[in-house]
Amino acid sequence: MNNKELFEKSLKYVPGGVHSPVRSFKGLHTTPRFVNRGKGAFIWDEEGKDYIDFCMSFGPLIHGHQDPEIKEAIIKALDHGWTFGACEKYSLELAEYIVNKISFIEQIRFVNSGTEAVMTAVRLARGITGRSKIIKFNGCYHGHLDAMLIKAGSGLAGTAEASSKGVTEKQAGDTLICELGDLAEVTKVFDDHKDQIAAIFIEPLPANNGLLVQSQEFLQGLRDLCTKHNALLVFDEVISGFRIGFGGMAEKVGIHPDLVTYGKIIGGGMPVGAVAGPRKFMEFLAPIGPVYQAGTLSGNPVAMAAGLVNLKKLTSAAYEKLEKNTQAVVTIMKDWMDKNGFEDYQTIQYGSLFYPISSHDKLTKISDLPQNMNERFYKLFEIFLNKGVYLAPNAYEVGFCSLAHEESVQEELKRRLWK
Ligand SMILES: Cc1ncc(COP(=O)(O)O)c(C=O)c1O
Repeated sequence: MNNKELFEKSLKYVPGGVHSPVRSFKGLHTTPRFVNRGKGAFIWDEEGKDYIDFCMSFGPLIHGHQDPEIKEAIIKALDHGWTFGACEKYSLELAEYIVNKISFIEQIRFVNSGTEAVMTAVRLARGITGRSKIIKFNGCYHGHLDAMLIKAGSGLAGTAEASSKGVTEKQAGDTLICELGDLAEVTKVFDDHKDQIAAIFIEPLPANNGLLVQSQEFLQGLRDLCTKHNALLVFDEVISGFRIGFGGMAEKVGIHPDLVTYGKIIGGGMPVGAVAGPRKFMEFLAPIGPVYQAGTLSGNPVAMAAGLVNLKKLTSAAYEKLEKNTQAVVTIMKDWMDKNGFEDYQTIQYGSLFYPISSHDKLTKISDLPQNMNERFYKLFEIFLNKGVYLAPNAYEVGFCSLAHEESVQEELKRRLWK
């Protein structure tokens, strides 16, 4: 069956044909590709066509598809069984490795996804502070938990409404929305909700509505406000963790959050998330603390083994190479776009993330994104796809480079684009 036939069949058995909405190619004038396999920087669809992959499973595959050492670790772990629901050494080793390398983390709890990590952090922050409200920023995505499927309301600063059916008004009322970069607004929201705010949640490198790089001053301002009001600062580093250096954006900007959430890279492509922080906060979690959290498959040994090798391979030389790969890729794409009718585009790059966008402005908040940019992106996406270059299929998603996007792949990218 070809991609189209597979998708039509899938529509019969699965809502919208997909198990996560962004895979559906909504709005695009082509059908989702059914991926049969991946290797290095490439994926092959069920029709045998290959693509240079810049989606990389939306981030986890920082060493490329089927990295041989990660694969070996997975196979070795499988040989011992793949879940015990009991204590085992795999998760201990991964916990120890991370705690010893990131200065503000003393303890870590593994879960199964980024969403679960943020959900745990929300409950933990509320449990620690005894307060119910949280601040979130317009344009940041933190997974599909109720508390975070909230958008800015039309009224006063900090008001909010649900962005999904099924989220109650009560839940929306406990999440206060602010604009990225607007410290005055966050200050006002704290003043308006004295002693009610448990935590600020932020992607310190917002990468879910393009790449909205924040200033160090803004992030430091949030740190100071949280300290002043006895609220927690939670960095959601599900994308940026282990990508923008091992310690993520926290390390890059030199700011210690009170809690941090991880996902994606931490599991090497297996389903893993984590919440981490100092012992004084983490020990609020069950079984010794009053905040309940649990998981049948949490700390799954196969996933932990994959995560550990994935992280151990992230040396400083690896980060240098990653940066170089990404710069080269961005230069090649920009050159092609400039000469082929996409002069209105810039490509924003930060570490190994990049974001092609039809604007030459500096973009730091969601309202900076151009209106009606979808059609322009769909055109670019489809041209790239036909040339065998796979971007994330949505105008708001960033591109992910990996260590596998090395020189030979860069040459191939050039050849494909200019063919
Ligand atoms: C910053 C951030 N937080 C949380 C999540 C949710 O992670 P998951 O999709 O693993 O549930 C995502 C997913 O893209 C994310 O980018």
